[in-house]
Amino acid sequence: MLAKVYSAAIIGVEAHLIEVEVDISQGLPGFTLVGLPQGAVKESKERLRAALKNAGFPFPTQKITVNLAPADLKKEGSAFDLPMAFALLAAAGIVPQEKVKRYLFFGELSLDGRLKPVSGVLPVALKAKREKLSLVCPAENVPEAALARDLPVLGASHLAEAVTGLGHEKVPAVSSVKSEEKGPDLAEVVGQEQAKRALEIAAAGGHNLLFIGPPGAGKTMLARRLPGLLPPLNHQEALETSQIYSVVGLLNRENPLVWQRPFRAPHHSISDAGLIGGGNPPRPGEISLAHNGVLFLDELPEFRRNTLETLREPLEAGEITIARAQLTVTYPARFLLLCAMNPCRCGYFGSKQRVCQCTPQEVRRYRHKLSGPLLDRIDLQVEVPAVDYDDLSLQRPGETTAQVRERVLAARKRQEKRLGSGRTNAQMGTKELKQFCSLKAKERALLDKAARKLNLSARAYYRLLKIARTIADLAGEEDIHAPHLLEALQYRVFDRLTW
Ligand SMILES: Nc1ncnc2c1ncn2[C@@H]1O[C@H](COP(=O)(O)OP(=O)(O)OP(=O)(O)O)[C@@H](O)[C@H]1O
Ligand SMILES: [Mg+2]
Ligand SMILES: [Zn+2]
Repeated sequence: MLAKVYSAAIIGVEAHLIEVEVDISQGLPGFTLVGLPQGAVKESKERLRAALKNAGFPFPTQKITVNLAPADLKKEGSAFDLPMAFALLAAAGIVPQEKVKRYLFFGELSLDGRLKPVSGVLPVALKAKREKLSLVCPAENVPEAALARDLPVLGASHLAEAVTGLGHEKVPAVSSVKSEEKGPDLAEVVGQEQAKRALEIAAAGGHNLLFIGPPGAGKTMLARRLPGLLPPLNHQEALETSQIYSVVGLLNRENPLVWQRPFRAPHHSISDAGLIGGGNPPRPGEISLAHNGVLFLDELPEFRRNTLETLREPLEAGEITIARAQLTVTYPARFLLLCAMNPCRCGYFGSKQRVCQCTPQEVRRYRHKLSGPLLDRIDLQVEVPAVDYDDLSLQRPGETTAQVRERVLAARKRQEKRLGSGRTNAQMGTKELKQFCSLKAKERALLDKAARKLNLSARAYYRLLKIARTIADLAGEEDIHAPHLLEALQYRVFDRLTW
């Protein structure tokens, strides 16, 4: 008897339909598994045998052949247990073939027949919906499957329960608890007006940002307040980001939707694969976990130079492609890059509080760890000096996150009208730059004079224009005026320093 059921394999963050075929024929008892099974999939035979027995079903004592199709796709993970069990039951005539063909099965079995939760259920559920199939998955994964909306789901905690439940699937309710926890507030940061303004501009225009300052100046404190300034994720963005977390197995089981902007702060000792994705089987890295949010690289020069170089592709393309002999995967990775660093190894170069212990060569070497091409992609570079004690105790509270965010949202609306939905000034190409950042004669003269005096590269010049555009948008102005340009000129530490 031959039986066929549907399952799915995840490539990148996309689910692909897999057909699990089981043939039971006369001949010497045996179990053959074909179709590029990898790792855990290869070991499914023993799990299947024990799980079926413990669910009260006989394991056929004939010749069993299991085929996973298409054959050219590697099948990873343990979620093929459940479809294989159903294909076996159908081939053995225990469950009618007619009944199983409307479903996509996805789940791991333990030896006692229980269904164990798996990662990747969200992209699989979305695939099932597109294919007009119902989903059979572990009960613990049902809240995640529910995010696909309007998809009939049968969640079961045991194989026996899944068998008797066929035909009784229903559309699960989406849990929509958005916990009230807010991120830290900008008002808690005393002083640092320029750095706060830079956060506002970065949030408004989607500009990458670098803070440079001595230890304890509040760089990390400021950085953590950036996600709160960004507009809330829309439904599409939330689903995109949630799918990445699903594949990595980082979703909250009860409340799976990622609805807050991610803030990822990997340590500088991170491997290339950990940062940009990779490994075997390939997994999304931190840059993809930061998709639609913020990637914070604290102590930037401590990261290996090669590691930082790998960021260039995703910074340009908003995604990362990892090519392997057998398989090429692409992960989304559109993030705002936020970096912090000390001005030198000891941290006090240029500081009023303490004397820098570094030689000029050491200072130069420290900064040279950052490659020009990476710095070119960081529009805003801002010095964060230490706040002295009097300022900390005397200054009145500044604006709250909510107040600043209102201006950010208004500025984003202006950009979307000009550039299209979801796009920001930071993403403008040369054509758009020419079209939307044209200057009047007086402003042009001002900028040209500054460019000559400061010996700005063409790239630095365009960065400046983009920042000025965002500053004008924050001010609600259609034209870029002199004050916008003059403010933009302040955010370019590395163009000013010559070394
Ligand atoms: N402007 C500020 N307002 C209020 N508190 C501050 C400010 N600056 C620093 N602090 C306090 O000092 C602590 C250290 O700040 P933070 O860790 O952000 O410094 P940093 O610039 O990241 O230093 P490092 O270079 O050592 O990483 C903060 O947790 C905060 O309590
Ligand atoms: Mg810090
Ligand atoms: Zn120093």
